[in-house]
Amino acid sequence: AASIDHAITAFREGQPVLVHDAADREGETDLIYPAGAVTPEAVARMRNDAGGLVCVALADSVAATFDLPFAQELLDHPTAADHELGYDERSSFSLTVNHRDTYTGITDEDRALTITALADAAADPADFDFAGSFRSPGHVHLLRAAPGLLADRKGHTELGIALAEAAGLPSAVVVCEMLDDETGLARSPADAREYAAEHDLVYVEGRDLVEQLG
Ligand code: 5RP
Ligand code: CA
Ligand code: ZN
Ligand code: ZN
Repeated sequence: AASIDHAITAFREGQPVLVHDAADREGETDLIYPAGAVTPEAVARMRNDAGGLVCVALADSVAATFDLPFAQELLDHPTAADHELGYDERSSFSLTVNHRDTYTGITDEDRALTITALADAAADPADFDFAGSFRSPGHVHLLRAAPGLLADRKGHTELGIALAEAAGLPSAVVVCEMLDDETGLARSPADAREYAAEHDLVYVEGRDLVEQLG
């Protein structure tokens, strides 16, 4: 199995890493940044080059400090009663948020502000006024990682948080699926690897992260 040291080093330096979960799961490659390293240019790269949903994953303990629920538990609507997914037991979606200093919340600058403030929140949860800093609903999806991280669930939510923890960074990462502009499907692992090589980025397989960090 490939060494994930390069991924950890790149991540620590604020570089995005491409992570493919597994062919028998979503079969998606997410572009993942440490939340604290996100700039408006990084948000532009996610929407232009990745094209999926921009979400910030938080560790379970961080989410617990801020009382961040799973969206499914929160929604009192028949669509949420049966939350069946083809690829996992449950989704990790929580609330959506905007930083209170944003205007619409969707611009590259607004989303970068929301995302970097989430890194500050994760760096020192005990001392952070979450409701004073963010409003809901907003334009950044929060994801709550499983309590036992990779032992519990092997989604990008947990893979990204495991990478942040290995790099000694706050437990907040931004993830965005890489879609294929031609087919509209997930980019194939081969295409994602090619993108990584072209842009001098690290690509890793979820199973290698699970093996070496799990
Ligand atoms: C939200 C998703 C993504 O796949 C994201 O990677 C988080 O989900 P998971 O932890 O299940 O992989 O669907 O855009
Ligand atoms: Ca595009
Ligand atoms: Zn995913
Ligand atoms: Zn997905």
